Amino acid sequence: MKLILLVGLPGSGKSTYAAAQKLPVLSSDDTRALLLDDITNQSANRIVFAMLRRLLRARLELRRPVTCIDATNLTRAERRQYIRTAQLYGAAIEAVYFDVPLDVCKQRNLARERNVPDDIMDRMAARLRVPTLEEGFTRVEYVRATDAAPPTTPAPAATSTLPR
Ligand SMILES: Nc1ncnc2c1ncn2[C@@H]1O[C@H](COP(=O)(O)OP(=O)(O)OP(=O)(O)O)[C@@H](O)[C@H]1O
Ligand SMILES: [Mg+2]
Repeated sequence: MKLILLVGLPGSGKSTYAAAQKLPVLSSDDTRALLLDDITNQSANRIVFAMLRRLLRARLELRRPVTCIDATNLTRAERRQYIRTAQLYGAAIEAVYFDVPLDVCKQRNLARERNVPDDIMDRMAARLRVPTLEEGFTRVEYVRATDAAPPTTPAPAATSTLPR
């Protein structure tokens, strides 16, 4: 079994990467939707993350081969609990670090409908610690800003082929 922790700022491309790789994901956003009907509701994070960890343990009990945690996972303290859980269940634990400059994350943030305020982005960037093998990860992979193309938006439907 393998547990994959995505690590990166909002807008760094975590969810896009997980979707492109077709990874089975447990995400803090989906858990907020399940519990609060709103992926942006930050009012019950303790319960949200406790539920996320319960879902993870259930998947590991079911011996699901791969589970990806799509959350920012910025600090060692946040990651430690997942590393411990993986070890407890005998699963490998990998980190995928989104090595994307803060400015790029901010720009991508502005370009989407759900914007994380700039000052929150600054605070999160200050908290971010790069994941290391020393923390207990069996592997740390880096994804850079330029690694993956942005998802292609469907081409707009042809307006009219009739002569005007
Ligand atoms: N490699 C990339 N190049 C350019 N744009 C990208 C890339 N990856 C993602 N994006 C765009 O950046 C925005 C943020 O991506 P995404 O939602 O995957 O980030 P995230 O890390 O999941 O953020 P959050 O933590 O807020 O959920 C999206 O609009 C997405 O289309
Ligand atoms: Mg996301």
